[in-house]
Amino acid sequence: MNTLTSEIEIIKSKTSKINEVDFENLSFGKTFSDHMLECHYKNGKWEAPKVVPYHPITLDPSAKIFHYGQSVFEGMKAYKDANDDIFLFRPLDNCKRLNISSKRLAIPELPESYFMEGLKALLKVDSDWIPKKDGSSLYIRPFVFASGNGFHASPADEYTFLIACAPSGSYFSGKVKVLIEEKYSRSANGGVGFAKAGGNYAGQFYPTQLAIEKGYQQVIWTDDNTHEYIEEAGAMNIFIRINDTLITGPTSDRILDGITRKSIIELAKAEGIPVEVRKITVHEVVAAAKNGSLKEMFGAGTAAVISPISGFGYHGEDFDLPELENTYASSLKKRITDIQTNKCDDPFGWRY
Ligand code: COI
Repeated sequence: MNTLTSEIEIIKSKTSKINEVDFENLSFGKTFSDHMLECHYKNGKWEAPKVVPYHPITLDPSAKIFHYGQSVFEGMKAYKDANDDIFLFRPLDNCKRLNISSKRLAIPELPESYFMEGLKALLKVDSDWIPKKDGSSLYIRPFVFASGNGFHASPADEYTFLIACAPSGSYFSGKVKVLIEEKYSRSANGGVGFAKAGGNYAGQFYPTQLAIEKGYQQVIWTDDNTHEYIEEAGAMNIFIRINDTLITGPTSDRILDGITRKSIIELAKAEGIPVEVRKITVHEVVAAAKNGSLKEMFGAGTAAVISPISGFGYHGEDFDLPELENTYASSLKKRITDIQTNKCDDPFGWRY
């Protein structure tokens, strides 16, 4: 759709920062590759994307992103295998979801070819930035924001689409202890919870700070209406294992259609794990923790892949999860990262 008529223009950086990077000890999302993709929406259309040197951007103080938070983003990763071939994981799904998010935020949708061809051109130029070390990857952050000006509370007339890349190690260093949220919520019916809108994440920071002050690392989001249903884990989808069954909530206005989430559902089913996509109550999880049938809880998202939970707090009480030898979290994480990094076959056709 909307095929580019010419090759993507590439303006190369005169110098490279790559020698300053310690690829053996990468943190998450803190150093950035030499180039980025840049694309502008003006006069009612998206202009052709360009690969340009990574650079700071200048915006008018009245740019609507600052005032009305009109912005959406994606999270993706590029991997390199032993032969230096480069792989993405279900990238078209990220492109589609970016446009689903954009639509909700009244941002003009981006042609698929601009996203895909632009990304491929960027990765070719910055291919040396894709780490090969196990557990590391090039984290890719496509994002669109309102760069048009004006204090009027209405959609901007200009937008900017950028893709920036950060060679990254793991998102969390170990298991996380979480607090089930009883007051705040991240989303509501009819709201923007299903979109990857920047503001969805900003709204999580304060309740998460409060949880950190109480000794937890992340918040488990519950529904805004009753706080009885478990919905997401921090910035990730959530999976709960009771006995042998893996449970996750259905996507909705309030729950992000995570690409890792849906891959885990398919993978688990293919491996014979009983999977239930259904609403799950806090009450059910607390009862399972008390009777010993709660075996695992983990978050799932692009950045962390699978992030095991060590225990949770609810209503002033703490519950520890058992230390199991063989967990779904570790076997599913291994399988998904082996597919992503071309270490095994890919019967699902997810590798790109
Ligand atoms: C991802 O997992 O890529 C996300 O989008 C979460 C992010 C806020 C780090």
